[in-house]
Amino acid sequence: MKIAIGSDHGGYNLKEAIKKHLEKKGIEYRDFGTNGLESVDYPEFAMKVGEAVKSEEYERGILCCGTGIGISISANKVPGIRCAAVSDAFSAEMSRAHNNANILALGERVTGQGLALKIVDIWIETGFEGGRHGTRVEKIGDIEVKYSK
Ligand code: RB5
Repeated sequence: MKIAIGSDHGGYNLKEAIKKHLEKKGIEYRDFGTNGLESVDYPEFAMKVGEAVKSEEYERGILCCGTGIGISISANKVPGIRCAAVSDAFSAEMSRAHNNANILALGERVTGQGLALKIVDIWIETGFEGGRHGTRVEKIGDIEVKYSK
């Protein structure tokens, strides 16, 4: 699995920790920035990672900001992106099993690093259940189509 990863300054340290974690697990990733603690605007990095996942060059994305909220709202503006802001293990699992989330958003100022890395593991390993959840996810796509005209 190839993962696109990005953050703003508020999520930079967590992004770096996730990169090391992915390396240890032998999971391929590309870092779309930011590259330091200087203040930046999270929508730019959300868009880069969102577009990388939409292009299908990367199967999944992981985004970090201070709360996980701004960067997830932004990523969800890219058509085809289902980005879930997650701060607990159960939601991590359900965001994959029921919502087929293709981007995970985490908040460095919300979730401790140990839990955040556990969430990453669960989120990577959990598959989409499909069935009735597939119908619902398709209906999310229908909303995008309706408002893209
Ligand atoms: C940056 O200070 C902070 O607002 C950002 O990282 C994020 O939490 C926004 O949702």
